[in-house]
Amino acid sequence: MACGESRVPGTHSQKIYSLSPRNASSIGEPDKEEKHLSFKGDQIMRDFLKKLGIRETNSGAFDGQWLEPSGPEITSYTPITDEPIAKVISSTAKECERAIRRAQEAFRHWCMIPGPKRGEIVRQISMRLRDNKSSLSQLIALEAGKTIAESEGEVQEMIDMADFVVGLSRQLYGVTMQSERPNHRLYEHWLPLGPIGIITSFNFPLAVFSWNALVGLVAGDTLVWKPSSSTPLCSIAAVRLFDQVLKENGMPDGIISLLIGGGESIGEALLADRRLPLISATGSCQLGRRVAEVVGKRLGRTLLELGGNNGVILLNDADLSLALKSILFASVGTSGQRCTTLRRLIVQDGVYDRLVASIVDAYEKIRIGDPFDPKTLMGPLIDQNAVEVYKAVIKRVPHEGGEILWGGEVLRDGIYSKGCWVKPTLVAAHKEMPLTKEENFVPVLYIIKVRDYEEAIDIHNNVDQGLSSGIFTTNLSVAERFLSPLGSDCGIANVNIATSGAELGGAFGGEKDTGGGREAGSDAWKFYMRRQTVTINWGKDLPLAQGIKFGDFSS
Ligand code: UN1
Repeated sequence: MACGESRVPGTHSQKIYSLSPRNASSIGEPDKEEKHLSFKGDQIMRDFLKKLGIRETNSGAFDGQWLEPSGPEITSYTPITDEPIAKVISSTAKECERAIRRAQEAFRHWCMIPGPKRGEIVRQISMRLRDNKSSLSQLIALEAGKTIAESEGEVQEMIDMADFVVGLSRQLYGVTMQSERPNHRLYEHWLPLGPIGIITSFNFPLAVFSWNALVGLVAGDTLVWKPSSSTPLCSIAAVRLFDQVLKENGMPDGIISLLIGGGESIGEALLADRRLPLISATGSCQLGRRVAEVVGKRLGRTLLELGGNNGVILLNDADLSLALKSILFASVGTSGQRCTTLRRLIVQDGVYDRLVASIVDAYEKIRIGDPFDPKTLMGPLIDQNAVEVYKAVIKRVPHEGGEILWGGEVLRDGIYSKGCWVKPTLVAAHKEMPLTKEENFVPVLYIIKVRDYEEAIDIHNNVDQGLSSGIFTTNLSVAERFLSPLGSDCGIANVNIATSGAELGGAFGGEKDTGGGREAGSDAWKFYMRRQTVTINWGKDLPLAQGIKFGDFSS
């Protein structure tokens, strides 16, 4: 995934914290009544920001207290209109040092609280998230440009994750083995790891944070979070809510810290710091390489959730109407900015023409516009940098032998005259196109025609990334081949579902350049704890393992 660190705003007014009403309806179906569900007026905008504690200028450093950092001022812009929402003063090395120290001190307290009691505090966080679901969702829609339905889904993912880990707090199981020695007990148990560093991206500004933070909390770890500088306000709002609950429970400062700031200053400091035994990072493969290098050098632990270049194989016997819906959500959802976004659609020749015709038809009907309008299916890209990447990709398509079937344009007129708007794009591609091997994090779907499953799976696996994959077929045997050792090489493999929208109950992550980490459900919690193998001798003799005799010292 591309990690949106900097934002190059387009032309925008300097009005802070009060967006003007603005029309943003949809392509092909202009909203004649000019309803502005998002921009009902400054007052509503102010209300949800105020409810979440967002001010005109905010501190970007928290260690249990909001500090007064002296780093560069960041302005958070909405990609909907490129207008500023609020300012954040970013952290410096000084706040970073202070937060890590606090996190270490707080760990000594937090790690000794029984797991189920930590779970009870997380249960209260889950209730607090429920109470603030609407405001948080609106903030995500405003700051990240995600549609309101997807923004609500993101907050729901936080709530579900919280509920999941409440149960998990009683199930951090170790195993007991049969000891080979008489009167000995052999078992493994899991202990909290320490203060952990969490680095997140703009595209899931809160859900991915909560995968890490909530599991980390029940695991007994304390948290130092560096969010994307593109979505600082989401992080401030979430930290406020988490902190309220921690304080209501009499917990010390430092269980959760927030450091908003650049990768080169804050990010690098976290990576290099031996006091953080785990760094969990979500972002591009390039970011992951840097994390692995610096953390690896100090032999720390990394959990990497990096780029995906996700493919779906669609065979002649597929249920096309089912496939179409799933393909649309996976390719257009989050404006093509999910790490699980469908980027390569590999289609068998017998259904290729029919499928392409129906996808083009569906793309024509996609409503692009105001993310707060429930009918909108696609919002803006995160910033003007992303629009530039989109333009560069589109320019390369014909040079690489691809053909644009739909889209390929930046939207700049009328309702799109401000903000980061592009058309979702369909490209008839072939397997040699370098573009099909890259993750550019823009809504461009490459469609590749193949003869059969064998050719499809070769193309599918022939990329560096290995996050998510899917196959559409009604042939059970072929579906099973896709799931076999020589099938999909990804961390996530779906049958009759495209690549995005994973449930959190399963472990989330991918292979190859995606980094190998696993987050969210299943046994991903093990990354956040340290395993200890324990042997207890409750007898009077000292038999050695492997039957070794080591002299007789009995007197
Ligand atoms: C991401 O884009 O970093 O599976 C995470 C999905 C979401 C998570 C995406 N549940 O699409």
